[in-house]
Parts: sequence; structure tokens; C-alpha cells
Amino acid sequence: MAKKLIATGYGDPSDVLEVTDVDIPKPGKGEVVVEVRAAGLNPYDVKLVRGFLGAKPENLPLSPGAEAAGVVHAAGPGSEFKAGDEVVVYPASATLAEYVVSGEDRVHRKPAGLGFAEAASLLLAGVTAVDTLATLGVTGDDVVLVHGGAGAVGSIVVTEALAAGATVIATAAPRNHDHLRAQGAIPVPYGDGLTDAVREARGDQRITAVIDTVGTDEAIDVSLELVAPHRIVSIAAWGRVDDGIVVIDGSSEQSRHHRSAAVEPLLTDAASGRITVEIARRFGFTDAGAAFDELLGAHPRGKFVFEPR
Ligand SMILES: NC(=O)c1ccc[n+]([C@@H]2O[C@H](COP(=O)([O-])OP(=O)(O)OC[C@H]3O[C@@H](n4cnc5c(N)ncnc54)[C@H](OP(=O)(O)O)[C@@H]3O)[C@@H](O)[C@H]2O)c1
Repeated sequence: MAKKLIATGYGDPSDVLEVTDVDIPKPGKGEVVVEVRAAGLNPYDVKLVRGFLGAKPENLPLSPGAEAAGVVHAAGPGSEFKAGDEVVVYPASATLAEYVVSGEDRVHRKPAGLGFAEAASLLLAGVTAVDTLATLGVTGDDVVLVHGGAGAVGSIVVTEALAAGATVIATAAPRNHDHLRAQGAIPVPYGDGLTDAVREARGDQRITAVIDTVGTDEAIDVSLELVAPHRIVSIAAWGRVDDGIVVIDGSSEQSRHHRSAAVEPLLTDAASGRITVEIARRFGFTDAGAAFDELLGAHPRGKFVFEPR
């Protein structure tokens, strides 16, 4: 038997998360069973459990966790993987568990130089970040405003926009400003006076693109004062689609293509250190509720990672 984290209802994670015993899955043809060493926690998981993405009773119990890294336990007949291979599983589901079963097409070899925790926390945020930049076609000529530049997605947006040669102005809490400055971005605090702060930061330059990872009305209203709606890409402002901004979630053909093409380069770049994955907090089965509770509020920079052992 093996342990798995489930949510028996929708609501406060501390109330609804439970550890259950399940059989160790067996791989069918085209499948791989992975012993999970680490699984990245994402805001998506918390929104799922809280019922923010819908609360249909027929979908219970929920099995959160959308990415993982670990070691192949068993592979289906004819697989290119074998027991002992170190891999990353993404996109995935039910990864907050000791074992996860996945279609082989979602299993990627983990570079040796990349830790399990970092590998498990890279891809969901990473492919999203790459998709935002590719959707806008950001180049070295751009002056990009990034809302949430110190978040998981925002950090990779900032890294990649700077690597493309763009000028980057990024909003963040003041405690993250030194970090953004060290990367080469110009930090500005969000909150009252944001438009003026961005205008001061950009100097004589014009903002040419906005990437919003936050989704607040403030972020979108300020952005619309600075650029045309079609130059604003958001991953969170679903309520503002009618303003003409571009909101993406990986469901369009273009986004799917951007995201799948980004997986291998992200793994290589994280292994080489060109992209950094910071780990803020490690948690296991017993303290998962607290980690879920913390992630949607103000939290330290870096990823929250589940380690089953
Ligand atoms: N559509 C998609 O495909 C997709 C994919 C991935 C994620 N998402 C969504 O994108 C959002 C970000 O995900 P993430 O993993 O990057 O989360 P995260 O690591 O928790 O980052 C969130 C960031 O938001 C900033 N923030 C918090 N309150 C703010 C405010 N009032 N104004 C401006 N910034 C604020 C925080 O900055 P400070 O820490 O500096 O305060 C933090 O850096 C989540 O809503 C997630 O569900 C969507």
C-alpha cells in the first residue's frame, strides 16, 4: 500500500485534506509508475481544493498535485523507461502521493544536475512563463511591465525577458526588490500610486508589453493606462477578458504548442543554473494543510514543495 493526499470536500484545506492508503498503481502499456520524491505545489491546487474552480460533488474526492519528480518504479511493456530512471512528470495529476502513474508522453528525463525538489517545481510555472512571452512575441526592443515579478511564474518571465534583451519593470512587495534588482529588473511596489511608480521607472521609454501574473483589477487598470489591450497578456485576470486583454491558460492550440516546446529547454536551463528555482518551504503529508493555507496569501518567495518521505 502507499499513501496519497486527497481532499474529501471543498473548503479550507486544513479541514478537507486527508491522507489515504491506496494500492501502488501498476503501469499499463504506454504508462510509467513513478515513486515521487518531490511534487511542486501550485496556486492551482489550492484553488481546486477551495472550490474556486468549481465545486461539483461528483468530482470528490479530489487528488491535487499537477507536477512531480521521482524515480521510475515500473514501466509498461515496451517502454523507453526502466526502474530506477530519474524523471519529471508534467503535466500530471494526483502527484501529492508516494506513487503517481502517468502516460509516458508526460514523463521527461530529469537532468542529473537538477535536484528533485527543483525539478518538481519548475515546469508548471516555467511553461506558463514561456507561453506569456511567446504569445506577446517579446524581443530585445520591448519594455515589459511584469505584474508579480517575484512569483513562481513571474520570476521566470523576468529571467527570460531579460535574457531576450528587454527592459523589465516588475511589481513586487518591497521585500523582493533587492532580488529583482540583482536580476537586472527595475522593481516597483504594487498598491496605490502604481501608475506613477511605473512611469517613473520607465523614464523616457514607452511600455510596449505587459505580462500579468496577478489578475487584480489594479494590475489590469494600470496596464490599460500604459499600453493597448492586445499587448497585455494575463494568466489570472479572467474577469477582464472583455477589456480586450489576452488571457491564456494553455488550452489554445498556440499555447499548447508554446508550452510543450518549452519543457526540454526549461529542464536544461534549470540544470545549468540559467533558470533558478527557489524552494521556500518543504512539507509532507502531516503539514500539507498549513502549506495549502499559506500559498494563496502573502508568502515567502520561492516554491512550496511536497516531499512524501
Ligand atoms: N493561466 C495559467 O496558465 C496559469 C498557470 C500558472 C499559474 N496561474 C495563476 O497565476 C497566478 C500566479 O501563480 P504563481 O505560481 O506565480 O503564484 P505565486 O508564486 O504565489 O506568485 C504570486 C505573486 O503575486 C504577487 N502578488 C500578491 N498579491 C499581489 C497584489 N495585490 N498585487 C500585485 N502582486 C501581488 C506576489 O508578489 P510578492 O510576493 O512580491 O508580494 C507573488 O509574487 C496564480 O493565480 C495562478 O493560479 C495561471
